[in-house]
Amino acid sequence: MSNYTFPKDFLWGGAIAANQSEGAYLEDGKGLTNVDLLPTGDKRRDIMKGYVPSLKPLKDEFYPSHEAIDFYHRYKEDIALFAEMGFKVLRVSIAWSRIFPTGEDETPNEAGLKFYDDLFDELLKNSIQPVVTLAHFDVPVNLIEKYGSWRSRELVYLFERYAKTVFSRYKDKVKYWMTFNEINMLLHLPFLAAGLIFKEEGNKKQIQYQAAHHQLVASALAVKTCHEIIPDAKIGCMLAAGTFYPYTCNPEDVFHALEKDRESYFFIDVQSRGKYPGYAKRFFKDHHLNIEMKPEDEEILKNHTVDFIGFSYYSSRTTSTDPEVIKNMTSGNVFGSVSNPYLEKSEWGWTIDPKGFRITANQLYDRYQKPLFVVENGLGAVDEVTEDGKINDDYRIDYLKQHIAEMAEAIQDGVEIIGYTSWGPIDIVSASTGEMKKRYGYIYVDRDNKGKGTLKRIKKKSFYWYKSVIESNGENL
Ligand code: BG6
Repeated sequence: MSNYTFPKDFLWGGAIAANQSEGAYLEDGKGLTNVDLLPTGDKRRDIMKGYVPSLKPLKDEFYPSHEAIDFYHRYKEDIALFAEMGFKVLRVSIAWSRIFPTGEDETPNEAGLKFYDDLFDELLKNSIQPVVTLAHFDVPVNLIEKYGSWRSRELVYLFERYAKTVFSRYKDKVKYWMTFNEINMLLHLPFLAAGLIFKEEGNKKQIQYQAAHHQLVASALAVKTCHEIIPDAKIGCMLAAGTFYPYTCNPEDVFHALEKDRESYFFIDVQSRGKYPGYAKRFFKDHHLNIEMKPEDEEILKNHTVDFIGFSYYSSRTTSTDPEVIKNMTSGNVFGSVSNPYLEKSEWGWTIDPKGFRITANQLYDRYQKPLFVVENGLGAVDEVTEDGKINDDYRIDYLKQHIAEMAEAIQDGVEIIGYTSWGPIDIVSASTGEMKKRYGYIYVDRDNKGKGTLKRIKKKSFYWYKSVIESNGENL
């Protein structure tokens, strides 16, 4: 027993994304998307950054999302396991291209709509509420080819139509929504996050911030539509969070850390406060960026702010202005963090910082004063299956335990947190590396980096641990 107390209706659960779990990438009419073009291996990082060799899958590459863990066909079995753990919610995303295969089809694809109807029904039958992200990194390839993806205003209207379609269809089944997953990822991995392709380096920032503006307007319009169609729903934004620490107390470092945080807060400031912050205007001016905005945008952003702040937290980040210090960057971290000498790292070089979770939650709440929803957290690690078929993932339990404890502390600090969905409750494809070996799950999936394996599901030790955490509403940590 611990001393931790969580609100009575706390939303315990897990989070997955369509492209990392479903597979069936062209089945039942689904169209091709940017995330279907990410192979495992060396080329992946450059492609995610926007240097894309082809908008068709290449013969010699392996694309892990094409089959993923076959959640598309096995969701009933998986949901039964989530229900056994006592999940109150499951966060999933809708693949835009299952609903509108080219992004601009005249009518939605009924088979795609039906898949999510069945999925949500199955969840509700098991007393699990769906929490749904409209865009978890995916953009139909047709929209990339024809419009250059989010650099074009056209995407705003097409996304609005998609959002309207799914709100109308699922209005009785889904009460928690989010617009763009990790919207700030657009600045770091622009092809992964927003389908942006760069031919030349020069105008990259201009393209990114113009695309960001389009996503921010599209997000506000989705909030508006959601509130109109499902008045009892809550809709949030989603930030890849993790506060930046200054490496030293040198004011130069401290200010730099503030600026690094603002790079991410920028998005949420607009989505939650309803207007561009002053520092963004200065940034645009200093960098000679000219962001095209329509006269009506100001009102749209102002009037349709989010109901809650969804965020992922894996690690804190550290920054410095000292050229010697920044030689020592942590590997694997897309946010460009220098190594923090006080903290351990995961096998993939991600800093492990439970206290940073409490700090981040406090800072987000101080800033926005809206309910927070922790929609991703977890440890990507290699799991070994023992000869008798067990997975003793104490390291994962340890990570989660420490993070949940700090979340409880944040709640005691007065931070309003409505739920916690740990990332990848069943092993899925890693977004950053495409590996299966980087596992987050309470449920093991027999599949390797090359796509070999039976896809059999096995409960890990953490399965029983998380079940008991949920059962005791966080007391049995
Ligand atoms: C977040 C994403 O960045 O982190 C997920 O929203 C992703 O899609 C998760 O899977 C963990 O990252 P990775 O690279 O270990 O899969």
